[in-house]
Amino acid sequence: MPDAPLRDLAAARGLLIGTAVGPHWLDQEPAYAATLAREFNCLVAENCMKFMYLEPERGRFDFATADRLAAFAREHDMRLRGHTLVWHVQLPEWFRAREWSRAEALQVMETHITQVARHFRGQVFAWDVVNEGLADDGAWRRDSPWFKAVGEDYIEQAFRLAHAADPDAQLFYNDYGMELGAAKADACYRMLAGFLARGVPVHGVGFQFHLGAENRLDPATLVPNLRRFRDLGLAVHVTELDMGIKKPITDELRRQQAEEYATRIRICREAGVAAILFWGFTDKYSWIPSFTKGEYDEPLLFDREYRPKPAHAAICAALT
Ligand code: G3I
Repeated sequence: MPDAPLRDLAAARGLLIGTAVGPHWLDQEPAYAATLAREFNCLVAENCMKFMYLEPERGRFDFATADRLAAFAREHDMRLRGHTLVWHVQLPEWFRAREWSRAEALQVMETHITQVARHFRGQVFAWDVVNEGLADDGAWRRDSPWFKAVGEDYIEQAFRLAHAADPDAQLFYNDYGMELGAAKADACYRMLAGFLARGVPVHGVGFQFHLGAENRLDPATLVPNLRRFRDLGLAVHVTELDMGIKKPITDELRRQQAEEYATRIRICREAGVAAILFWGFTDKYSWIPSFTKGEYDEPLLFDREYRPKPAHAAICAALT
């Protein structure tokens, strides 16, 4: 059977299938825009909705690039995820340059969240309100400037501010490494269960799923891990799926990658994941080669010429 567009298969199953996008390629590369429009029913900004880009100077907001992405989503009947309101990375120089008191940092957070969430109200259906607030062992990430200035309640403060600014948006906590590490996933579960018990407006959890193709995820442990969040009443999104292959890359490794992609999609379906987003779609543009200093490559579904790879066919089969 020839590959079908992913969005057709996903829509038939009530699933959102999406990708991270760099808006500058939309205009520069017809094949980028065409592949995106054909295959996906959901988008997220890879970078342009992060703090340093939206508020480059304190109190001055620049929405132009992100608006371009939102317009593309509208034109092509795609949902838009927002990434991310509060993170310890990609903060503007004016914020990183000094220490902030608790009151000042909360003021900065309130202005940013309020302006951004209001601007995208009705366009962004789900926000990653706080990204990567937990350390790998499940403790608070203490090197975050937000943690340092505000203390451990900064996460719930962010959720309350986001809800006030856009009461209709689904609000997510998003993190990596919860697919493998029990301690971090357990800590996240306890944190979100506590939020719900105290009436903090949280509606979902994002599992990033950045793991090389050599990691064979086990449905027997991962499905219950994901499901317990749903049992709390939360939506579960897989937000940043990619799968670098360790070099030297062979056809056999590409085949194994395809198989592992299919496994991960089946895990998502079995666990009732509502949205699956890849962290990019063409191997031409991925953070993986530079981040791994050339050790890994070819992490995505389309090659550098936008031809579907074996991974694409395997995902189609897993969605059918
Ligand atoms: O904007 C500058 C540009 O002016 C300069 O010429 C260029 C040269 O290197 O760098 C550009 O900034 C880069 C930025 O992406 C935008 O392209 C940064 O160097 C680069 O470090 C940054 O990387 C992004 C990374 O987040 C930052 O930590 C990746 O593209 C992006 O894929 C990645 O995404 C994160 C998610 O937000 C959260 N989860 C993990 C995921 C992967 O790290």
